[in-house]
Amino acid sequence: MDTIVVMDFGGQYSHLIGRRIRDMGVYAEVVSPGTTKRSLEEMGNLKGVILSGGAASVYAEDSPKPERDILDLEVPILGICYGHQLLAHMTGGDVESGDYGEYGTSVLGLSNRNSKLLRGLDDQEEVWMNHKDRVAAMPVRYSTLASTDSSPIAAFVDDSSRRYGVQFHPEVTHTSKGGKLLENFALSICNAERDWDPSGLAPELVDRAEDYIGNRKAIIGLSGGVDSTTAARLVGKAIGDDLTAIYVDTGLMRQGETESIKNTFTGSDLELIVLNRKEEFLGKLEGVEDPEKKRKIIGNTFIDVFTEKAKSIGAEVLVQGTIYSDVIESGSTTHSDTIKSHHNVGGLPEKVNLDIYEPLKDLYKDEVRQIADSLGLPEEIINRHVFPGPGLAIRIVGEVTPARVEVVRRASYIVEEELKSAGLYEDVWMGFAVLLSVKSVGIQGDLRSYKYPVALRIVESEDAMTANFAQIPFKILEKMSTRITNELDQVNRVVYDISNKPPATMEWE
Ligand code: XMP
Repeated sequence: MDTIVVMDFGGQYSHLIGRRIRDMGVYAEVVSPGTTKRSLEEMGNLKGVILSGGAASVYAEDSPKPERDILDLEVPILGICYGHQLLAHMTGGDVESGDYGEYGTSVLGLSNRNSKLLRGLDDQEEVWMNHKDRVAAMPVRYSTLASTDSSPIAAFVDDSSRRYGVQFHPEVTHTSKGGKLLENFALSICNAERDWDPSGLAPELVDRAEDYIGNRKAIIGLSGGVDSTTAARLVGKAIGDDLTAIYVDTGLMRQGETESIKNTFTGSDLELIVLNRKEEFLGKLEGVEDPEKKRKIIGNTFIDVFTEKAKSIGAEVLVQGTIYSDVIESGSTTHSDTIKSHHNVGGLPEKVNLDIYEPLKDLYKDEVRQIADSLGLPEEIINRHVFPGPGLAIRIVGEVTPARVEVVRRASYIVEEELKSAGLYEDVWMGFAVLLSVKSVGIQGDLRSYKYPVALRIVESEDAMTANFAQIPFKILEKMSTRITNELDQVNRVVYDISNKPPATMEWE
């Protein structure tokens, strides 16, 4: 399969590049900056390399840099943001620190329309910028293609060596023709074949799981979501009843989760064990308010439960439904910052005596959904909103108590029900309620009340890396609000969260 490699220098958006390339049907793989020329060549069907963005400055001693001979590769190379500066710096150009940064939308003026890279773009285009340093002088042989007010060399090319740089981020939807630019690079410049089709990937993933696990026994924790369900089905096909699925009822699950899991797996070949561990999880969370502490406690407790169970059935492998975006945001890639310790990635204790196997860790959410579809999983599971590993605990600001969990569980259920009845459930990434820790005054039944409010969080997203709050009609929000305050005696006020990601994240903790 033709491959475009994205060398990851740690930018928050850099992983979207891989997603965009895969979206056009070309296989993309994200590799670390230390990857050698030789191992890239050994891929056999390498068609091009993209150097991603990143927060460092090319002059900083510890800034991530590729091996110098990467530039001798015979395939086209495109540098984006930090990658653009890196390309200039490594080929004899000059990078300087700008007087001020250029963040957000800028207008790109094209000065040279001869390059294939910018084919199809207008003389002026909206682009998304996120940098302070900029390319000040170009190496010989290169020519400028475009500029913005703050970046005189916002795009450059050396056609003879097929090296390209853009200061802006084509992978972000705010760059209106970003998709076109990446297509120009992957399809016209690199001549990559569009032969990537995740829907046909299941047999290969089954083979890989079989090879990896061999004749060992494995366990998998189910959460009810599409990721762990798909991972369980794949590994189940690979090793049959050597896989045991475990659903831990932490007391922090969505309404009706336990029944729904039982329904999904009843009649399937997979052995399902349901463990009621509500007391253990809620007990350990008593008095804990800090979000990262909550995440770590829950992660550790899950591992305790899994280790104990694995021991009793002689399993050596723990299968996890981790997907690509979980890995990125937990800071597990080389240079990106830890945003949150996803319990199934960074929240795990240092030493786990189980071999972790993550069959979906290189796949994006919509790719997992396509695989789930090809495996015949029910629509309801495939389209189910994402639910975080730490569960409702991270949707309660402040202390987690059984009573507070119940409020947030029921309020979230109302949000989901109303989204479904308005036909909006599948249009949004997720919708849920968050219970806050401040109180406000209200009036209910002629009496003064002083209670906690609920915040509604409904977001649209393509890949969990960025998100916009959903512009839900007020009538529907009003219905949710009225139902929540009527049906939940503990709540007297409902607010709607109108923050995008960034600067906010989807979950509150
Ligand atoms: P944030 O809040 O980081 O969430 O914008 C992005 C997506 O990831 C989900 N999420 C998690 N999923 N374990 C998971 O499996 C976790 O610890 C976790 N934290 C957040 C979140 O629900 C959203 O869909």
